[in-house]
Amino acid sequence: MSEILCVYYSRTGNTKKAMEEIAQALDAELLELKDEVKREGLLGWLRCGMDAVSRSVPPLVPAKQQRPLSDYRLVLIGTPVWAGRCSSVVRAFLKESGTDLRHVGYVLTRSSGAKHGEVYRQMDGYVLYPHLFGVSLQSGSAGCHFWQEQFVKTVQDWLAEGSNTKEKTDAGKAERD
Ligand SMILES: Cc1cc2nc3c(=O)[nH]c(=O)nc-3n(C[C@H](O)[C@H](O)[C@H](O)COP(=O)(O)O)c2cc1C
Repeated sequence: MSEILCVYYSRTGNTKKAMEEIAQALDAELLELKDEVKREGLLGWLRCGMDAVSRSVPPLVPAKQQRPLSDYRLVLIGTPVWAGRCSSVVRAFLKESGTDLRHVGYVLTRSSGAKHGEVYRQMDGYVLYPHLFGVSLQSGSAGCHFWQEQFVKTVQDWLAEGSNTKEKTDAGKAERD
């Protein structure tokens, strides 16, 4: 059983692909979040935008990870950026379970050139300790794979260090995107 959980929501597959690759590189457990809202097509797109702006949270389809969330040493959370915010589905997960998480890292995917660093801060509002790691991937861009690999390497270094003291000291300072 892995000590790392990669949990994500993906509407059109970009975040799914990134999280699958990251989970494989880290030998982590992978968990996809889903809701029951119709998010396909133009109407679905509009719904996503409205949900993100209004910060509404849909009920999640129950998904079960292998161990209690508080038992994972690190939880990496992947979300598309919606209107400068995290997706409502990930917001629902954070609202429901954010305070159960010991250490978190964020993987954002986006289409624009803006990194949307504000999304990290919004997500930090739901967890006990600020994120240790963050990466913002512009889907399909030339540098996307490079930044994803850098992110994996940073997490691997942190895991190899293995000191709880250092983990707490570095919290909030180790954002690398
Ligand atoms: C409603 C909506 C709003 C979006 N807003 C932004 C945005 O503010 N900035 C941005 O760079 N991309 C934005 N995007 C693009 C997605 O973040 C991007 O395509 C992402 O990689 C999609 O991930 P997915 O394929 O996992 O769903 C938006 C997409 C949707 C559906």
